[in-house]
Amino acid sequence: MSAVIPASSSSEAPPPTGKTKPIVYFIGLTAALAGLLFGLDVGVISGANEFIQKDFGVDDRMVEKIVSSLLWGAVFGVLISGFFSLRLGRRGTILISAIIFAVGSVLCSAAPSAGALIAARFFLGIAVGMASFVAPLYLSEIAPRSVRGALIAMYQLMITIGIVLAFLSDTFFSTYANLQPLATEISQSLSSLAGGRGQMVMHAYFIMPWRWMIGIIAVPALLMFLGMLFLPESPRWLVLKKRGPKALAVLRRLASSEAEADRELAEIEASLKMEQKGFSLFRDNRNFRRAVFLGVGLQVIQQFTGINVIMYYAPRILQEAGFNTTAEQMWGTVLIGTINVLATFIAIAFVDRLGRKPMMFAGFVVMGLGMLSLGALFHLGIGAHGGGGLTMSYLAVAALVVFIIGFAMSAGPIIWILCAEIFPLAGRDFGITCSTVTNWAANAIVGMTFLTMLNTLGPGNTFLLYGALNAVFIVFFLTLVPETKGVSLESIEEKLLAGTPLKNIGR
Ligand code: BGC
Repeated sequence: MSAVIPASSSSEAPPPTGKTKPIVYFIGLTAALAGLLFGLDVGVISGANEFIQKDFGVDDRMVEKIVSSLLWGAVFGVLISGFFSLRLGRRGTILISAIIFAVGSVLCSAAPSAGALIAARFFLGIAVGMASFVAPLYLSEIAPRSVRGALIAMYQLMITIGIVLAFLSDTFFSTYANLQPLATEISQSLSSLAGGRGQMVMHAYFIMPWRWMIGIIAVPALLMFLGMLFLPESPRWLVLKKRGPKALAVLRRLASSEAEADRELAEIEASLKMEQKGFSLFRDNRNFRRAVFLGVGLQVIQQFTGINVIMYYAPRILQEAGFNTTAEQMWGTVLIGTINVLATFIAIAFVDRLGRKPMMFAGFVVMGLGMLSLGALFHLGIGAHGGGGLTMSYLAVAALVVFIIGFAMSAGPIIWILCAEIFPLAGRDFGITCSTVTNWAANAIVGMTFLTMLNTLGPGNTFLLYGALNAVFIVFFLTLVPETKGVSLESIEEKLLAGTPLKNIGR
């Protein structure tokens, strides 16, 4: 999820007054499907893990590899996105990512071994990474200024909705769907091709809930592909490729008046005069390097809050906390995903009113308390064998919910917002690539170490450690992070490049 904001969004010109055309919302919804797919692929694995582990008979180390292979794929996906989105356009790149989403989902669901699943998830991750870079870029470039913020926020919300939908679909396939009759029918109709033994193998394939959980994601991927076929290319990219008349035609379709379309075109042309310097700026300009390190640091912090430990392993954590049935674990996970969606609205409502820093401060305190309480509960004796009783188990759910509220109202959306605000225009693409890659790499490290931590340190110490990290991050915030509420991007840029301490480049 990267909110790449083009130069024109920081313009101080008055917002257009005309009514927003329905096509703008259609575009927003279709492109935001990329966010939904991103969320579906992030969320789906938590419910699938247990079944995959049993099906392939693999240990926790292998599960960590299966979880994190998608995240390393995403790192690669972000790295190649800049190239594709410049050459083929934003729309073209989203179309390619939709194809990889669909094919990757099918490949994952058909994987014959854990190794093949790791490879297929890496491939699928390329789509997740590409979508996390290109979809917000496309949205921010195509939306008229009056609804630009809303469309980017909608994209971010879609990620959390994708996660909870994946949790729900996992719950359905693991606890309620009786796959037996369907599996029998499919394998019988395929038996003429495969013979008796083949029929048995195929039956085993089709009855596995995890294969359905993951495979079903090909459907929204195809929907996004079809929807995108009807959408126009980003006008900003068209101008970049010297196709001004085409860009104007697109802008006229979208803008509420011809005058507004003309003005947007002029703004795009003006902003594109600023050459993207990227790496040379990083090499030569110490002040730009500071911003890149801040962006990278913010993303490391977002991931080391421990959010994805919960996103990927919630059912396992709930099991450790004493919930022994799959249904209990799955519904607990759905609860956590739902709270994640709802609490995101707190950030949307207050981030521009109260400011980034107070929200972040409050969020990190809440997250720290959540994680520390969870760690303490494990030390007090909740456990998979019923130790500590039901009350303790429910308290553990409450601690998880507290943590999620803290994350969704702060680090979840606000770190992406900050990363879109702190880079000077000439290095914005480079800066956002670095911070987004860091997000996925840190995400992968968390995903591939959690079960090992659980097995070596024990759940109590693992969560205490994450709690302590959240407390340390508060210090980072107070000393290094600027307050950017209501400040124009130009002013942030001017102060950063003049050498003002990072903490003061905002207000
Ligand atoms: C993070 C993801 C996380 C999601 C949870 C995003 O802001 O970047 O790693 O899975 O929030 O809602």
